Amino acid sequence: MQHDKILILDFGSQVTQLIARRVRETHVYCEVHPCDVSSEWVRAFAADGKLKGVILSGSHASVYEVDDRAPDAVFELGIPVLGICYGMQTMATQLGGKVEGSNSREFGYAEVRAHGHTALLQGIEDFATAEGHGMLKVWMSHGDKVTALPPGFKVMASTPSCPIAGMADESRHFYAVQFHPEVTHTVQGAAILGRFVREICGANADWIMGDYIEEAVARIREQVGDEEVILGLSGGVDSSVAAALIHRAIGDQLTCVFVDHGLLRLHEGDMVMDMFEGKLHAKVVRVDASELFLRELAGVSEPEQKRKIIGRLFVDVFKAEAAKLKASGQGHKGATFLAQGTIYPDVIESGGAKSKKAVTIKSHHNVGGLPEQLGLKLLEPLRDLFKDEVRELGVALGLPREMVYRHPFPGPGLGVRILGEVKKEYADLLRRADAIFIEELRNFTDEATGKTWYDLTSQAFTVFLPVKSVGVMGDGRTYDYVVALRAVQTSDFMTADWAELPYALLKKVSSRIINEVRGINRVTYDVSSKPPATIEWE
Ligand code: XMP
Repeated sequence: MQHDKILILDFGSQVTQLIARRVRETHVYCEVHPCDVSSEWVRAFAADGKLKGVILSGSHASVYEVDDRAPDAVFELGIPVLGICYGMQTMATQLGGKVEGSNSREFGYAEVRAHGHTALLQGIEDFATAEGHGMLKVWMSHGDKVTALPPGFKVMASTPSCPIAGMADESRHFYAVQFHPEVTHTVQGAAILGRFVREICGANADWIMGDYIEEAVARIREQVGDEEVILGLSGGVDSSVAAALIHRAIGDQLTCVFVDHGLLRLHEGDMVMDMFEGKLHAKVVRVDASELFLRELAGVSEPEQKRKIIGRLFVDVFKAEAAKLKASGQGHKGATFLAQGTIYPDVIESGGAKSKKAVTIKSHHNVGGLPEQLGLKLLEPLRDLFKDEVRELGVALGLPREMVYRHPFPGPGLGVRILGEVKKEYADLLRRADAIFIEELRNFTDEATGKTWYDLTSQAFTVFLPVKSVGVMGDGRTYDYVVALRAVQTSDFMTADWAELPYALLKKVSSRIINEVRGINRVTYDVSSKPPATIEWE
């Protein structure tokens, strides 16, 4: 890869990925690696001359609880280093300063005063005090703090309770902040990170998705040669963009297999076929496996068991199709590659799990172990990209915006949105109710922002509750099912707030569902945040 790069060492903070996303948003390429990589590894990573700077992340732990240190090479390469929160504390400890624990944790909003006109903060401020000091509105989350500067450092920022809230040794281009510039609550966070990577590190801003297509296409062609690729298309954003990119690179050497498990959204199957077969002219095999899935799910109500069954059947059906394709001699040799829409967060998560740095909240399994079982090589053209980048790439490849900017949809589909046992009757009712909800979210625009409520929410869907309640319609009593509407706003899906949808929108959705979907007579709105609730109901 010919891009300048920034190395982000992950000390296990829940928000490390946000650092990487903010850096990428400035069009600078970066990679996240666990903090316990060796100095030799860091030197090898820098050997191509493309490493322009290092960022040390925060941690969920305290410097007293863990002995994680940055590899010494980080401070010896002669390139800029930025420490964030724990990253600042470990920088202080490793370079000869002092960190002390404190009884009180500082958590939340804080106003930080900038000092010393450092290259990092110079000219970046939210407001100025009456005395003319530049102030930053930031997000703090720490117990320990730096109490003595390492030799060569000066104070770069302070708050009344944290006198060393930032420090710098400008001769070595080492900077550190106690607050979190990566979270959006820190108003100037993006500007500070941008200043660090673009100006202090001098990294080239050449990470642009439109240009990346050419690079990715060349790489796929080189990896695949004249062999054949098979890809499981799910209708989701990642597999769709992977399919479009691979198709751009190798055309008919790609065969997509679209397994319809009967738990997709309304008309989703037809839309996928229309796009890939109809418009892109890709080879797509559509397998209607809905009866098989429903049969195997009959009588099963435990959520994890349902997930396992759906995952296993998906693999079985896919394998059977791959075998059929091979036997039919499609292409000249049959597929030797399996393509997957793995994206960068999946890669980082499994790395984090290996070094036990990330605290896993809930694991989501997609199709693991499939390439080994099929005896196929793996092709993962999106594994360097974050979700926002995958979307940009999708648009650049000509996929419709509406498809690429769709809310995420879980692999097990409506299977986890029908509480308890899955039945076709339930799935059919849910699909129709959900389509109405989504349609109205797209119809309603928020005046203040000019955006539709679909775009203002991160994920929205309907949940089928297999309970009946009494209603009255016309002259008669009804005794029908209940659905719950769920709409959340989140930047990382780890925490989420329920969306404050306008009453007029809720009213319209409720009245349309009850009037148009016979079998549902009650609509509720879910007002639970995550945590303690999760986004999905199962
Ligand atoms: P939760 O419910 O854990 O969801 O708050 C967080 C995000 O993950 C999605 N999700 C899944 N995705 N397979 C998937 O591919 C699953 O089993 C699964 N469960 C949850 C969920 O839709 C939300 O975006």
